[in-house]
Amino acid sequence: MEFKFTEENLAKIEGILKKYPTKKAAVMAVLYVAQEQNGWISGEVMKEVALLLKITTEDVLGVVTFYTMYHQKPAGKYHLQVCTNVSCMLRGAYKLYDHIKEKLNIDNGGITGDSVFSLEEVECMGSCGTAPMIAVNEDYYESLNLEKVDQIIGSLSGK
Ligand code: FES
Repeated sequence: MEFKFTEENLAKIEGILKKYPTKKAAVMAVLYVAQEQNGWISGEVMKEVALLLKITTEDVLGVVTFYTMYHQKPAGKYHLQVCTNVSCMLRGAYKLYDHIKEKLNIDNGGITGDSVFSLEEVECMGSCGTAPMIAVNEDYYESLNLEKVDQIIGSLSGK
């Protein structure tokens, strides 16, 4: 499906571009706006971003595939990223991860039938001191245990 930025987001991007020395340097920020609008970064989104920034689609693809914050397929309203890197793993991340998978009945990269939750296993998110942790969209939840995870999912399910 063709993707075009809304007028509002084009204005936002204009402001973003002023902060960068080149259009190419703004690719991450522009992708972020695109993801906010579209929910994920599709091939059409990448094409539009490339066109706008006068760079190649491959340049955009390189960024999208490198950073886990960009969704390469439709994500749920709440995208859960579970860190299973060393610090989190040593403090029970896999217990949390398996629990979430079972509770939501989805696997890595999956999305619930009602599109409320999606799940992704990720590398370190820089919050090792408060491991284990997960991110829900942009919010970090730290020093977790199974009870806290249940509370988080429970509270989000009701929204
Ligand atoms: S290892 Fe999980 S946040 Fe660093």
